Amino acid sequence: MKRHEVLIVGAGLAGQRAALEALRLGAEVAIVSKVMPVRSHSVAAAGGINAALNEKDSWKDHAYDTIYGSDFLADQDAVEVLCREAKRNVLELESLGVVFSRNRDGSIAQRAFGGQRFNRTCYAADRTGHALLHTLYDQLMKFRPVIYAEHYGLELIMEKNACKGLVVYDLASGNIERIYAKAVLLATGGYGRAFSVTSNGHANTGDGLALALHAGLPLEDMEFVQFHPTGIYGKGHLVSEASRGEGAHLLNGKNERFMKRYAMHAMELASRDIVSRAIQTEISNGNGAGPRKDHVFLDLRHLGEKKILERLPEVRRSVLDALGIDVARELVPVIPTAHYSMGGIPTDVRTRVVLNERNTPVKGLYAAGECACLSVHGGNRLGGNSLLETLVFGRMAGKEMASFVKNQTWPAPRAKHENHAQKRVHALLKGRGKCNPYDTRRNIQRLMMRHCGVFRNERGLRALQRRLRACKVESFKWNIGDTSTQFNTALAEALETQNMLDFSFAIVESALARQESRGSHYRTDFPMRNDAIWLKHSLAWLVKGRIEVGYKPVVIRRIKPVERRY
Ligand code: FUM
Repeated sequence: MKRHEVLIVGAGLAGQRAALEALRLGAEVAIVSKVMPVRSHSVAAAGGINAALNEKDSWKDHAYDTIYGSDFLADQDAVEVLCREAKRNVLELESLGVVFSRNRDGSIAQRAFGGQRFNRTCYAADRTGHALLHTLYDQLMKFRPVIYAEHYGLELIMEKNACKGLVVYDLASGNIERIYAKAVLLATGGYGRAFSVTSNGHANTGDGLALALHAGLPLEDMEFVQFHPTGIYGKGHLVSEASRGEGAHLLNGKNERFMKRYAMHAMELASRDIVSRAIQTEISNGNGAGPRKDHVFLDLRHLGEKKILERLPEVRRSVLDALGIDVARELVPVIPTAHYSMGGIPTDVRTRVVLNERNTPVKGLYAAGECACLSVHGGNRLGGNSLLETLVFGRMAGKEMASFVKNQTWPAPRAKHENHAQKRVHALLKGRGKCNPYDTRRNIQRLMMRHCGVFRNERGLRALQRRLRACKVESFKWNIGDTSTQFNTALAEALETQNMLDFSFAIVESALARQESRGSHYRTDFPMRNDAIWLKHSLAWLVKGRIEVGYKPVVIRRIKPVERRY
């Protein structure tokens, strides 16, 4: 049995930033991560991080763009913190050693990004997440925190609405262990892998969301899934928005810059939900490119090789690797790709996880980064705001936890805390049915993509609900095929697939319930936004195997909802 004052689950940017802050404030910290920390998906974040650095820009303008982009579902108190704190956090990272790209005068360079009226996205070429994560990791190593790498979180240890730690599965040894803690942070990232076309790494299976759901906690705004407009056709990998920020155009199969029909002013730099819908609409209307007319093109050729090599080297390399296409000379075939979840584990503005519509905090449990829903992104996130969120709220979580643990006693260890997790693992190891988790996972991904993508409607969502229920039945008949104890990746993937299935139900039920279109949630059967009824956050609980949906109000401050136009 192990114990630590602060236990951080997830070693991406939010987790590492929280750890650094808590350590600096004197707390004792351990990190659990199912991958090696520098392999966390934050390294894949490409285009940049937003902050109003320029004196002609202001955090208030940044907040306005964020709230407008969110289709007014963002909580304005949380957005205010995000944007006010942006400059200080970016400058701190610079002072810690992040090599941002520079202007001629030496100041941090900032590029245009979608849905923003100012060039406020700071960047390190198109490898910003990589630069941030490695710098943070270096800083963290000075404090030598305990790191449980390749440990998988099985279950939160909960007692009467208080979190006391985590039961983990050690992938190397196959042992199931309890790790007690005075405070636990969930910073487990996103769940893009629940979709067949995604920009997300293989580790992004939404495990933190399932930990919360299985602990009886709700998930907020799960119907809001962001599709990034430019995934590499046939692969899903990201072609960073930085390319459009630097001036790349979208062309349909007729060689038209079709965005003029959807966002006359912002064109390719409208918000992501609008650009993704435009692409999908072009494809549905028969204007797609290629023999199957099932994609559009991103055109970077006019940017020139010099600019591409300097500012978009990763875009160039990844498209070359994936398709053998040189973006400086050829058109890049692209399609919308599942990229980010606006929804997640509900927290208050201090990153404390909340358990109901009244925002009652769970004692000792925090969440930050993509797995959390504060909500700073509402119905649609602006590019460049997610790296920012990880830093601002990672730091806040570290500070909150360091202060909280000072007055807490150690949780009392009880063997029963790991019983349920043991049973779950043993059931998977013993299963001798005729189905396997790989087929089930592929099915979930295909179904989610087909019925819960850029466009949804009741018919498709009901079909999805039925098919996911069939997947659930199938999951009781799995034979995972490997019963070894050491590095049993089949077991790990089965656990992930169980998790995927459970939070996918939360997405589908929340999407079915919300009978309007807002941000990334577009219902073809309810194409209008309806503030009179739906200006509210959804909450989804898993109760006796079924999802129950409730609601809580959106925090509106200075900025009144209006119709969005770009
Ligand atoms: O396109 C991109 O570089 C992604 C950025 C983001 O999601 O913030």
